[in-house]
Amino acid sequence: MNSVHLTPLIARRGGPLQGRARVPGDKSISHRALILGALAVGKTTVTGLLEGNDVLHTAAALRALGARLERTSEHAWRIHGVGVSGFATPSGALDFGNSGTGVRLAIGAVAGSPVTATFIGDVSLSKRPMRRVLDPLEQMGARVIEAAGDGRLPLTLQGARDPIPIIYEPPVPSAQLKSAVLLAGLAAPGETTVIEAEATRDHTEKLLKHFGAKLSIKSHGEHGRRITLQGQPELEPTNVVVPADLSSAAFPMVAALLVPGSDLILDAVMTNPLRTGLLTTLREMGASIEAVEKRDDGGEEVANLRVIASKLRAIDVPAERAPSMIDEYPILAVAASFAEGVTRMRGLKELRVKESDRLEATAAMLRVNGVTVEIDGDDMIVHGKGNVAGGGEVATHMDHRIAMAAVMMGLAADNPVRIDDSAFIATSFPGFVEFMRSLGAELS
Ligand code: S3P
Repeated sequence: MNSVHLTPLIARRGGPLQGRARVPGDKSISHRALILGALAVGKTTVTGLLEGNDVLHTAAALRALGARLERTSEHAWRIHGVGVSGFATPSGALDFGNSGTGVRLAIGAVAGSPVTATFIGDVSLSKRPMRRVLDPLEQMGARVIEAAGDGRLPLTLQGARDPIPIIYEPPVPSAQLKSAVLLAGLAAPGETTVIEAEATRDHTEKLLKHFGAKLSIKSHGEHGRRITLQGQPELEPTNVVVPADLSSAAFPMVAALLVPGSDLILDAVMTNPLRTGLLTTLREMGASIEAVEKRDDGGEEVANLRVIASKLRAIDVPAERAPSMIDEYPILAVAASFAEGVTRMRGLKELRVKESDRLEATAAMLRVNGVTVEIDGDDMIVHGKGNVAGGGEVATHMDHRIAMAAVMMGLAADNPVRIDDSAFIATSFPGFVEFMRSLGAELS
């Protein structure tokens, strides 16, 4: 990347974080709402949509595939869907920018349509594994026409004319992989089944039901699920309400825990139990986070979260919790740096294939700010001392969550923390700097 385009950001310790605010819409649900709206016949409306760069890339791709998408007002969109198997062959490559979710879900949807499409992305996305989705989709009849090494982007996929339903057990716990298979399964006759050894976020399943698909979900083993989709439904257009993203709320939440005197309310945050591993973990560490006004919003559990600055203690985070907080380890590592004692986070192998190698990037973020951290196989071990020296410059590696975690660290560290580039924050949290400033954060 050309250094001319970098937008550094510095965070320094100031007064307490206070106030009441709502973070942007959930990224996972936003992608899915647009894709399922495009696969329904007729007019779907989405409110509370995350208008971050990742989701905007998905919207542009769906337009290129023949769906009509209009922004009717702030965060409100209307989609005129083309129906299951109704995509048209796009005239150019579909660019997904930085977004693994966008591209993997779209690959699944295209795999079940009789069209050929080329998928491209930025430098970060082009390094990420796509083989994991291509394997089951090839079993279903899709064909990889061209791809970079090991099935990476840029890749050209020919969707199946007559998709074959399969029973699939993903080798890694991945909601993206599960969702790609289910989206392709929409076009297959009969039943497509995904058997997860460990349950991952179930937004695709919930939304499929919301759009009228028939789906059965049974528990499987100790932590898993067996999901069976009845293929070839006519998806009914509907209204989708997108709640606030817990993975985005995680940043101001941890900052409020760390900055003395803070007292914050984060409104309408989604608390789907398959996403709340961070809340469980922070509470075990002694965090004061109270969920008030619990309710159901558009089929998802939602609550207002009141967060009060708290003294944190180190804990051991079990591997089986990873799927429910997979995006939250960078910010948890920041919390652990300010806790007293040794925190061990287990089973983090999947972090190596996120927007960056998040295991290494997180460890480097801590080290450069004076925190002792080790990587032991798939575990990360943080030696917390109750305070953090700070003063480091963090390399963000095109990874929005490393960028935001480092900024939160700077708000509580003894010395300011600088990040090399804040541009990628807009993939998931547009308006982040203004949002944090409105709560009292000192960012420049
Ligand atoms: C997501 C699933 C997770 C997560 C990502 C969003 C989704 O990825 O890290 O930010 O919306 O399905 P994996 O499926 O690779 O675990």
